[in-house]
Amino acid sequence: MLVFAKIKSVQQKIKSLKKGTSIGFVPTMGALHKGHLSLIERAKKENDIVVVSIFVNPTQFDKQEDLINYPKSIDADLSLLKSVYCDIVFAPSSKEVYADDVKSENFNFDGLEFKMEGKFRDGHFNGVGTIVKRLFEIVKPNKAYFGEKDFQQLQIIRNMVKNHNVPVKIVPCEIYRENDGLAMSSRNARLTEDHRKVAPFIYKTLKLAKLKFGIENALNVVHWVENELKKQPLLELEYFEIAEEETLQTIKNKNSKQKYRAFIAVFAGKIRLIDNISL
Ligand code: PAJ
Repeated sequence: MLVFAKIKSVQQKIKSLKKGTSIGFVPTMGALHKGHLSLIERAKKENDIVVVSIFVNPTQFDKQEDLINYPKSIDADLSLLKSVYCDIVFAPSSKEVYADDVKSENFNFDGLEFKMEGKFRDGHFNGVGTIVKRLFEIVKPNKAYFGEKDFQQLQIIRNMVKNHNVPVKIVPCEIYRENDGLAMSSRNARLTEDHRKVAPFIYKTLKLAKLKFGIENALNVVHWVENELKKQPLLELEYFEIAEEETLQTIKNKNSKQKYRAFIAVFAGKIRLIDNISL
């Protein structure tokens, strides 16, 4: 496994690969867990080589505090990456990526950016779009792998690739969960013992909401979820929303031809957890 910190060196390596070598790319912010590894394993199966980036991107954090507190574990990350036979790691510094201009590009994601996470995390998706576009330009992958855990991010990247004619195939990957259903996240390690115990309630509620959505109207399901969360003093609901998968528009009238997904964001103490389920 080769590890590069400089754009020029990783590009040189990629250029030196035999013509026709297919490259799978998995962008991450490090603090790797099995959810990340599931993307890398999939990329490994579908490509000749796999490149993983580790970069805690400053422009996608709306709160400086979150950026500072973002977990960093580069040594553990590198040994995990070796264990899944990752070929190339690109782990640049902020200076290498942004020089002295730590700023986002302004994107138009056709309204996807104003829904859900966009309402609560100012400028977040411009930051994500900026870094992913830049990483795609550097790595020039054939395919790039994104988790459905961050479903809105996945749709935003698909939109960016389409509108900017970026020649990368975006591959969505299923949410990887703990045995008790909690979606794996770098944030889970920061939950208190009590919050960790109640956190699986989030996915349990999503699964029941899916069942209810089969027999009830969307508004009833939304009210039911809001009430369920009120019963859990250790969890505080930020939003629960049922939306069309492609546009992320909030559901109005159920249409049997449309695909829907339920999205949730919950505070477990100070830790914000998100999850979603296809309905
Ligand atoms: P990060 O949170 O490190 O996630 C990297 C990738 O792993 C994302 O595509 C995310 O959706 C996926 N992922 C995380 N937890 C997962 C789980 N439990 N199951 C499946 N996939 C999971 O998302 C980012 O970093 C950044 O925004 C990034 C795209 C790297 C841009 O900075």
